[in-house]
Amino acid sequence: MFTSVKDVRKALETAKNIGLVPTMGALHAGHEALIQRARKDSEVVVVSIFVNPLQFGPNEDYTRYPRALPRDLEICERNGADLVFAPSVEEMYPLPELTFVDVTRVSEHLCGAFRPGHFRGVATVVLKLLNIVQPDRAYFGEKDMQQFAVIRRMVQDLMVPVEIIGVPTVREADGLAISSRNQYLNPAERRAAPVLHRALREAAARMRSGERDVAKVREAALGILNAEPLARLEYLEIVDPLEMQPLSTISGPARIAAAIWIGNTRLIDNEEGN
Ligand code: PAJ
Repeated sequence: MFTSVKDVRKALETAKNIGLVPTMGALHAGHEALIQRARKDSEVVVVSIFVNPLQFGPNEDYTRYPRALPRDLEICERNGADLVFAPSVEEMYPLPELTFVDVTRVSEHLCGAFRPGHFRGVATVVLKLLNIVQPDRAYFGEKDMQQFAVIRRMVQDLMVPVEIIGVPTVREADGLAISSRNQYLNPAERRAAPVLHRALREAAARMRSGERDVAKVREAALGILNAEPLARLEYLEIVDPLEMQPLSTISGPARIAAAIWIGNTRLIDNEEGN
């Protein structure tokens, strides 16, 4: 495991065909799918593990975010990672950060509207990681649809020489998207949590079978969500897949995305609609 930027740069000096999987640790089957995909494509697989304070709001779960480094290292090794980069906060932010990456418009709606500064923190740390590792490809989960769109656009706009690859969402048997935050759920909350996927799947099915009215598609999902007393809706939107702008009618490619709260745990998910 490497903790310093200097050592990682040295270790990768002559490396070719590098795949980077950025993570915040507490690794699970979703992260494993990313590492396995990187392993297939790349000669050198780098996994970064860094709980990035810049992407957490003042009232968010930065301090209680799960940390499990020894176990994470085993998972990386088991899935064929060649190098793990797990820097400290001081290593990543040696000076008070004065430079930020803001991917406007793509960050505006969905999670961006409820987590001010979140995507700025994500884009900034991901650009730093790309600059440190200089991979040929970097891998991101489709579960975090808006994050994926933000990073893809950042790389295009700033002409970063890397290919951004999306990996399909890995789910539990009952449909719940696997997330490090699922471990916050108590047993009753855990039983309620798959409602999010059920609601989005139903709405997506309506779109795919030709429903063009956004209000009707939303209604189908809301009916399912509202029937679960433990679920509280944060947002439910149908957006275009590139700029994440809410659609008024469904005429081209569309995705449906939602965030709900179950107790003190925030869950997000999305489905392809059209
Ligand atoms: P983290 O939540 O640890 O997720 C790391 C990567 O794993 C992200 O690309 C995320 O989309 C992907 N992922 C998480 N759950 C998944 C699932 N069930 N199926 C498939 N992929 C999944 O996302 C972050 O960290 C951070 O914001 C980061 C990009 C590392 C920047 O700090």
